[in-house]
Amino acid sequence: MYFNRSFLSKPILLVKKITDTIELEELTFSELDPREAALLQRAQEISTKAYAPYSKFQVGAAVLLANGEIYQSSNQENVSFPVGTCAERLLLGYVGANFPEQAPQTLAIVARREGEIDWAGVSPCGMCRQAINETENRYQSPITILMLQPKGVVLRFQGIRHLLPLKFDDLHS
Ligand code: THU
Repeated sequence: MYFNRSFLSKPILLVKKITDTIELEELTFSELDPREAALLQRAQEISTKAYAPYSKFQVGAAVLLANGEIYQSSNQENVSFPVGTCAERLLLGYVGANFPEQAPQTLAIVARREGEIDWAGVSPCGMCRQAINETENRYQSPITILMLQPKGVVLRFQGIRHLLPLKFDDLHS
């Protein structure tokens, strides 16, 4: 946005408009590729192991690596709230540390409130989006992100740029 004040002090507002497009697919569980459905199921299973005594929001994440292996994590909270860690960041940290040569290809995320039967809607927090972005940059490969929503709906994004437009990923530009 540029402000241009003429000598008559009449302000003129020039707006530079940039348009970007984000894309997502809304699918049902049964419309998914069977490997994606299996990944969501792994995320659902691990969510039962969440340590979430404060929020009672039990998150599960599962990741498919380039070698076909699947790993999973839940969220792990702390009485000092900021010390707790989201399922996605724990998982990406773990696979990055242990299998650095295997690019994460697909990440599935689910959540449920303690004691409830139905799955809640989930969407990764800003910190996790930044962590997913770092993983994409590290392996130079976009990650397919699956987010389970209520009533068996799954949102699918082909890369973090659809969840994090105008992201910070270059220290030098
Ligand atoms: N949480 C995750 O683990 N992943 C998400 O995508 C959303 C939020 C956790 C953090 C905290 O333990 C709880 O859910 C409530 O915010």
